[in-house]
Amino acid sequence: MLVDLNHVLKNTITEHYAVPAFNVFGYEDAKAVIDGAEELNAPVILATNKVAIAHMPIAILGKMLTQLAENASVPVVVHLDHGSDFNTVSQAIKAGYSSVMYDGSQLSLEENIRTTKEIVKMAHSFGIPVEAEIGSVGYFDPSLGIKGALTDPLEARKFAEETEVDALAVAVGTVHRMEEQSANIQFDLINEIQSFVKVPLVMHGSTGIPDEDLKKIIETNFGKVNIGTALRMAFGQTLRKTMEAKPDVYDRIELFEESMLAVKEEVKKKIRLLNAHQYNLITN
Ligand code: G3H
Ligand code: ZN
Repeated sequence: MLVDLNHVLKNTITEHYAVPAFNVFGYEDAKAVIDGAEELNAPVILATNKVAIAHMPIAILGKMLTQLAENASVPVVVHLDHGSDFNTVSQAIKAGYSSVMYDGSQLSLEENIRTTKEIVKMAHSFGIPVEAEIGSVGYFDPSLGIKGALTDPLEARKFAEETEVDALAVAVGTVHRMEEQSANIQFDLINEIQSFVKVPLVMHGSTGIPDEDLKKIIETNFGKVNIGTALRMAFGQTLRKTMEAKPDVYDRIELFEESMLAVKEEVKKKIRLLNAHQYNLITN
């Protein structure tokens, strides 16, 4: 079923689980994510970033993903990831997305607050929850020019109070697009932030988090954990193997089969680490 972000985050602070948000780029990975979530009876978030919406128009993605969500036996959120401006966020809402992120992390604090407030006002008028970012989760590739900065707890409090966001992305040691699980998570900083901020926190760049730390994160106020690169690696590396093993096959449906299974297994692994499959027991 299609649900909004608040629906799946509502008990994540009091109970020990977090909901994974997986970046998807088309039908195959979106279907594999839902298959994995359904096998474990867990809620899940399908997230589309700038690359995804540049490749496939947001109106098409919205129709496809909301349809997949509506047909799913588990709660599924269709989420805009790292929305860059007011127009992109409103297009996502028009396309049926049930959650949006606005990313003003490269702006000054005051500018970030001002633009986020405008987006929250607009999105809330349509009943759509908003995630925004304070501090900045940087990127593994410095040539992208996105500056990383750990979140200042007092700025986080000011930002959350003034903008009235539903979920807050904070930078506590991760970096986007790491291929190894070697991020150094600052648990002391997390404790400080969550003593000031009451809304669920969002972790970005979570492919780089060691399994042991993912398990620890569910004990904190993080309710949404974003995972992209791990699935892209599972899909692409498996596709490469399939093409080497089957040099005569050229039909995409057959070529994608093993990759979809690999994505599904990765999804199940992360769901288990985040305890998201305990969701039904916890909320009922
Ligand atoms: O917003 C998306 C995530 O932060 C994904 O990060 O590709 O490093 O797992 P990742
Ligand atoms: Zn991110």
